[in-house]
Amino acid sequence: MNAVNELKWAAKYPDLGTEPIGVEPCISPEFYEKEREKVFLKTWLKVGRVEEIPNPGDYKVKKLSFAKTSAILIRGKDGVIRGFHNICSHRGNKVIVEDGEETFGKNKAAVVTCRFHGWVYDAKGAIASVPEIEKFHAGFDKEKNGLTPIHTAVWEGFIFVNLDRAEKVEPLDSYLGGIGKHLSGFPYHELTQCFSYKTYLDCNWKVAHDAFAEAYHVATIHAGSFPNVFSSGLSDVQLFGPHRTTAICLSLNAEPTPVAKIANSLATGSLVAQRGASMLPKSVNPSRRDDFSFELSVLFPNLLLHISEGIWFTHQFWPMAHNKTLWEGKYYVRPPKTNSERWALEHAQCLQRNAWLEDTATMEDTQTALESGAKSVMHLQDDEVLIRHGYKTIEQYMDAE
Ligand code: FES
Ligand SMILES: [Fe+2]
Repeated sequence: MNAVNELKWAAKYPDLGTEPIGVEPCISPEFYEKEREKVFLKTWLKVGRVEEIPNPGDYKVKKLSFAKTSAILIRGKDGVIRGFHNICSHRGNKVIVEDGEETFGKNKAAVVTCRFHGWVYDAKGAIASVPEIEKFHAGFDKEKNGLTPIHTAVWEGFIFVNLDRAEKVEPLDSYLGGIGKHLSGFPYHELTQCFSYKTYLDCNWKVAHDAFAEAYHVATIHAGSFPNVFSSGLSDVQLFGPHRTTAICLSLNAEPTPVAKIANSLATGSLVAQRGASMLPKSVNPSRRDDFSFELSVLFPNLLLHISEGIWFTHQFWPMAHNKTLWEGKYYVRPPKTNSERWALEHAQCLQRNAWLEDTATMEDTQTALESGAKSVMHLQDDEVLIRHGYKTIEQYMDAE
């Protein structure tokens, strides 16, 4: 047995326990249905960035399959971004025709028009016009039949929605609490060059999430793209209510390949180089250790947000069924100014892409194997504490009234 004093996170967070974790939450359709209702339809979910819809009348539609809906996020003439269900009050058509998980559009007058019979809505969701309105019966009140609003709020340029039907929900700032403060002040809005990947995985969203929430797998899964680059342990783990964060550090003895060395000297696009701490909030890597690589934070339930000098990136896991997940990865750096910087960033991206493909390699196998029923639990080690906290948090939400 391991000596207890080696298990530092278990000692720091005794409430999380040390027992194995049941596999039921990853394989049960009934659990999934309840989780949709109690977690995903009750919490704040990141659905975009303000830079995606910079001008009045710009809009984005984000599909939210788990809720069988899509959110229209539209910037009004007053500059405010509001969210609505993408469904027309007339006969229920989708107001905006979607072409995939994310759809973008703009309208100078800041209105959206349903193509079926031409009802027009303004950016506050109110009906702006109904063709042949005189033919509607006396009981139809235009004022009461705008778009159905969705709670929408912005934190550090990230647009969040909360699909709870209640009129009032906990404000986003209070929901994020300590993690919001911890990650505030980073120049997300300046690092706007985005590389993104997405795919549908035949696994539970937690199986995908968990594969990105520890560094224990790096030596094995990432032996190809990041050999001996990161240390497997976590540093500065902090739990903030349902949210959690850790620092991921480098093994400083790793020798980069000659090409990587050149790329690292040209641009700050790669996680594997030391790049200082000029833009990190003070609470991140508080002791300014020089082996710090990036901060890995989980904004409950489904957003991993990472910040690093000159880089930030997200993974988001959208449940689609108990064994199906949409994974979206987005990686942001400062736009390159020269061709050599562009090349260096592309190089960093290729490395990152390879690493992410390595990450996704195990997820569907894990799901199939878990569904065999041959194992009823998973055994987590001390540096898998973020995963343990994730299951504990879900349990709390499932048990809540
Ligand atoms: S369904 Fe939208 S205008 Fe008729
Ligand atoms: Fe990984």
